[in-house]
Amino acid sequence: MLTQAPKGTRDMLPQDAHIWQTIEGIMRRRAALAGYREVRTPVFEHTELFLRGVGDTTDIVQKEMYTFKDKGDRSITLKPEGTAGAVRALIENHLFADTLPCKMYYLNTPVFRYEKPQAGRLREHHQFGMECFGGKSPVVEAELISTLLGILGDLGLKGLSVNINSIGCPNCRPKYHAALKEYLSGHVNELCEDCRERLDRNPLRVLDCKVPTCKELVKDAPSMLEYLCDDCREHFDQLQKLLTARDIPFQVDTHIVRGLDYYTKTVFEVMVTRGREGLALCGGGRYDGLVEQLGGPATCAAGFGIGTERIIMELENQGVVLPQPPLCDVYVANLGEEAREQSFLLCQQLREAGVKAEEDVCGRSLKAQFKFADKIAARYIALVGGDELARGVVKLRNLATREETEIPCENAAASIAALL
Ligand code: HAM
Repeated sequence: MLTQAPKGTRDMLPQDAHIWQTIEGIMRRRAALAGYREVRTPVFEHTELFLRGVGDTTDIVQKEMYTFKDKGDRSITLKPEGTAGAVRALIENHLFADTLPCKMYYLNTPVFRYEKPQAGRLREHHQFGMECFGGKSPVVEAELISTLLGILGDLGLKGLSVNINSIGCPNCRPKYHAALKEYLSGHVNELCEDCRERLDRNPLRVLDCKVPTCKELVKDAPSMLEYLCDDCREHFDQLQKLLTARDIPFQVDTHIVRGLDYYTKTVFEVMVTRGREGLALCGGGRYDGLVEQLGGPATCAAGFGIGTERIIMELENQGVVLPQPPLCDVYVANLGEEAREQSFLLCQQLREAGVKAEEDVCGRSLKAQFKFADKIAARYIALVGGDELARGVVKLRNLATREETEIPCENAAASIAALL
């Protein structure tokens, strides 16, 4: 127990740090190119925020939240997604009063959901998300999708499909709800238990149920697209035109409704084309009502979230290997007490000069130090030995060519740095 991480959590180990850092670097770069700046919000918020924001009929709120009372008897919940916290920060800090749009991204924020752990489903995962407030044009969604595909493309991922849908707005959705309910109420006995419950409170969710009998049933259900009001229809048409103009292939999938209550108009998912059904790499959409619903002024908004662990899983599936930077440029080996002090100083000076330098901290013999330098794939060994010190030099060996040169002790770090 003591040495086992809780179920559904993963360590990021030092040997994998470069993978996370490469992904983060690409995300930061692409987000900045589109004018997004970073936001960091707390890992926990008042439970009320998610009840009102994410929606109390969603699986996340009903089954998956990590909620507890703090010592002050307040109900606290670990972030089950990133959008509600970003909206809370926007409202609390009056960012809506600055020049709009206000564009923000969060990078590998930890997200907690009490799900059944399985491939691609963790109880703690990390999300990159982009949220744009104050932009009502479908250019926002097109920009989000384009930036997202840019990130995945930079990482070398292939075979992705963009699926989009419109789930309408408070003007047109009630009529669709009524039509869908009418259709489904003729088939109540064929619905799974969850969907029977959803029928009254959130019939849209029946459309993306993964139970085979429900999936079969919704094939013939009325489509939201036939019920869109003029404004929603126009918005959806324009989005498709923008994606086409940008040569982004997409599919309209009327069964995408998303598992969170706040969406209006556009919803989208990016899936891997081959592989596990129902496992989206990314999800997002427009949520024009959420800021107002949480107490801010009416502010339209759209965004997406993508799980970094799912990206890494897909990189592995596709055999994409992200290059690992060298761990050590120069290993400073030493022989003897006096040499140890000199090697410590040389190592420090090399680091100051921007060279990745390592030295012995385990009291190893010279032979063992050479072996270790090989193991960490050091490019050079700088030998500080009694004999070399007496002659006022450091011996530098290139581990690839085995060539050796002698460098004067004076300004040795600068001379070595210049050689690399
Ligand atoms: P979501 O679809 O619930 O949307 O999650 C976004 C992404 O997080 C998923 O596509 C997936 O990559 C990852 N993810 C979700 N659950 C898990 C899990 N249990 N284990 C591993 N990865 C997971 C949202 O959270 C919305 N806040 C997205 C959004 C932002 N919409 C507008 N703005």
